Amino acid sequence: MQAATVTETTTAHGSRITPDATPAPVPRTRSRRGRAGAVSLTAGLFGVGAALPEREIDNAYWEQRLDTDDAWIVRRTGIRTRRWLEADEPLAPLAARACAEALADAGRTAAEVDQIIVTTITPDKVTPGLAPEVARLIGAHGAAAVDLNAACAGFLYALDQAAALVETGRARVVLVCGAEALSRLTDTEDRGTAVLFGDGAGAVVVAAGELDRGVSRFVLGCDPEQGELLYADTTDRKLRMQGREVYRHAVARMAEATREALHAADLTVDDLDLFVAHQANSRIIESAANELGLPHAKLAINVDRVANTSSASIPLALAQAERDGLLMPGATVGLAAFGAGFVWGAGVVSWKERQYVCA
Ligand code: ACO
Repeated sequence: MQAATVTETTTAHGSRITPDATPAPVPRTRSRRGRAGAVSLTAGLFGVGAALPEREIDNAYWEQRLDTDDAWIVRRTGIRTRRWLEADEPLAPLAARACAEALADAGRTAAEVDQIIVTTITPDKVTPGLAPEVARLIGAHGAAAVDLNAACAGFLYALDQAAALVETGRARVVLVCGAEALSRLTDTEDRGTAVLFGDGAGAVVVAAGELDRGVSRFVLGCDPEQGELLYADTTDRKLRMQGREVYRHAVARMAEATREALHAADLTVDDLDLFVAHQANSRIIESAANELGLPHAKLAINVDRVANTSSASIPLALAQAERDGLLMPGATVGLAAFGAGFVWGAGVVSWKERQYVCA
């Protein structure tokens, strides 16, 4: 791992950043997560990448195989199509493509990466995990590499860990990648779940910067008493769930955690430029937004194109939102996710707030 060169920064929050603009005066400053007197680094997001498999599985595919129809799927889930890997196609190259794209977008090289965290519930092998293979494929030879499994909330758990590594000076550049092949866990004969899932990978670069917000404190939680409502066991290896119950918990937890995260960041929902929630189902996202009082125009939704890709869904949605012109540098973005466990998380981040400063 490379030695960290620490550039002194002071974290402030409460100001809004616009592209090419000098930040407005901030009401007060504070150091984050730092001991009194210690240098305080702020972690931020500096690049994004996305990769999808070639093979497209649209709703007509399911109409031909199951007692279902496009209208039902779209009405209940918002999903129109999804991408699946071929049966023998590995996931690691897809994750590597997303990581390489994120690095290029951030203007960084693989040699600069200190750690790669890949979130997945569908690694190519029992062991080793996906992350070491991703490191090999992108040429990040000096990087530490680790897999993390927190189901659909994995990306937010990993982002929190990456921010902690960067803010404590233990790493300078961390790649966080959500990569999933849910097709491997899909019971293709169960119409209640088969239509929901897709494969894909998305990644962001986390590094320190002279930032006003960066990656704010994440609210993470877990309710292990509800584990039987959504799971895949080691013998059946198919995702099983009680859809309505999962739906109810997902909406309540994502809204509650987002409120807490906003409160911790001294923000209100009105301060959010965009809300990027785990793309399980457009109705879940819209219901959570309704509970929060967020208008539809502030929602990032790409579940129609990629379906539920578990921990890959948030970085894929971020990449899509940027391509669609919904995410400008300095935007204040709410993130929320919920998944099997139950585990959940929410936080507020600023999008590509400024160029990073740790050389
Ligand atoms: N096509 C047609 N009919 C269907 C289908 C289908 N694909 N799937 C279920 N149905 C039928 C059911 O059999 C049932 O029929 P019945 O009334 O004759 O018994 C009827 O539709 C209603 O079934 P419900 O399961 O009650 O339908 P619901 O409105 O709850 O929608 C859904 C189901 C979309 C799964 C919903 O519960 C949901 O989105 N739950 C959230 C779960 C989720 O997204 N999980 C993903 C993994 S977890 C995560 O990422 C957070």
